[in-house]
Amino acid sequence: MITAIIYYSMSENTAFIAEKIAEKLEHADLIRIEPVKAYPAKGAKKFFWGGKAAVMGDKPNLKAYEFNAEKYDCIVIGTPVWAGTFTPPVRSFIDQNKDALSGKRIAAFTSSSGGPDQSEKTLDKLKKYIGVDAFAAEFGLTDPKKKPNVKNEEIIDSFCEKIKA
Ligand SMILES: Cc1cc2nc3c(=O)[nH]c(=O)nc-3n(C[C@H](O)[C@H](O)[C@H](O)COP(=O)(O)O)c2cc1C
Repeated sequence: MITAIIYYSMSENTAFIAEKIAEKLEHADLIRIEPVKAYPAKGAKKFFWGGKAAVMGDKPNLKAYEFNAEKYDCIVIGTPVWAGTFTPPVRSFIDQNKDALSGKRIAAFTSSSGGPDQSEKTLDKLKKYIGVDAFAAEFGLTDPKKKPNVKNEEIIDSFCEKIKA
């Protein structure tokens, strides 16, 4: 059972979750996607440009990454919530791999600053964009790197158990 964990992270919260999932699963490849032109990561520009790109459905060019869907039994997609939706680099990834993702077992998670509704609506949009009715497993956490706690660990454990099942 091999899993690919594909994720974008600007300020390391999504990366923090992705790395935890990789530790807990026996065989997982971490694939971090990054836009060729990084979004501003500081100050007001950060929210303006990232938010605008998310709302406009931008699909930035991505730096080269290695991903062969055939190799994997499950594909996990991780994204921060930007302006109530998934991030532009994740949109690019899905577009670039639409056929390869078709029929695959897919799970997903989000990191946001808001409550569960932010994650739920983002995961719903992600499902629609990929073209699936449901994920094999899903969850969302609130800025997990800043606030690590036992409950988050349990949520990640339960997600990993569903993936292994
Ligand atoms: C451009 C931008 C837009 C954001 N929009 C939202 C939002 O709509 N709802 C929310 O709960 N958090 C929002 N956030 C906060 C991030 O989702 C949150 O900080 C997340 O943990 C960041 O993940 P990262 O550290 O992996 O980049 C936004 C952050 C940025 C930079």
